[in-house]
Amino acid sequence: MADKDRTQKTHNYHLDIPMKNEPFELRGSNSLDWGMKNRLSNIFNPNVMLAIDHGYFLGPTSGLERVDVNIVPLLPYADTLMCTRGILRSSVPPTFTKGVVLRASGGPSILKELSNEEIAVDIEDAIRLNVAALAVQVFIGGEFETKSIHNLTRLVDMGNRYGIPVLGVTAVGKEMTRDAKYMRLATRICAELGASYVKTYYVAEGFETVTASCPVPIVIAGGKKLPELEALEMAYNAIQKGASGVDMGRNIFQAEAPIAMIQTVRKVVHENMSPAEAYEIYQTLKKEKK
Ligand code: R5P
Repeated sequence: MADKDRTQKTHNYHLDIPMKNEPFELRGSNSLDWGMKNRLSNIFNPNVMLAIDHGYFLGPTSGLERVDVNIVPLLPYADTLMCTRGILRSSVPPTFTKGVVLRASGGPSILKELSNEEIAVDIEDAIRLNVAALAVQVFIGGEFETKSIHNLTRLVDMGNRYGIPVLGVTAVGKEMTRDAKYMRLATRICAELGASYVKTYYVAEGFETVTASCPVPIVIAGGKKLPELEALEMAYNAIQKGASGVDMGRNIFQAEAPIAMIQTVRKVVHENMSPAEAYEIYQTLKKEKK
């Protein structure tokens, strides 16, 4: 009981120690509210985010035919999981307590104009699922550019109401040039309009100007499947040039040995291990089937 406290003989108020007021280190996030910072801390560890949301417009693409069989064994090695609510509820064990980044936009399939998306989840359902962030596709230069930006800003408003960060995902249309100029434009627009962090593609020339001009953290998507060494090089270079993490899908779940690959990507992102050294570890883990 509280009044029993008075019976205690000594108290130590540490009067000589000023109360700590430490800045929140994550890029551009110091002014956010506690809940938002707490969720972001559950994402940036730093961040190896396993992206498995492709089915929301592609269906059961290669490597994602059976999430229970192919993906669940990878979860112990992911810092964060990006997926749809359908996959989360049906196939991801609720004992997974790391950050879930929920795909929150959708609509058109691969057969239609992909930029014509709508918001695809209620904020109440996101809260019910205890997600760490919401992800929305933004199609800068796409046919439905304004609509996709409006999806982002509405989700940011909803997320801000409840302390849920929004990840702006820059989608590059088939006819658009993937260069630093485009990525600077797309990432900066997402950040200016309120995204807590932004996903983009790595570009070999000038990626450091993309991360420098975006005031919030950037994570890179893996993109189409590459030989494993090249994928590790891309992850390494992105981190060295200012990315705060990777959001990799196909380069992990379509790798010859996905469990070995995700462990190796961790080495590059968490330990700054060189791609050549990490690739050797990949080969060993692959042989040992670990
Ligand atoms: C698009 O399907 C999604 O936003 C993916 O999460 C994103 O492209 C990352 O996956 P990948 O590394 O396969 O490109």
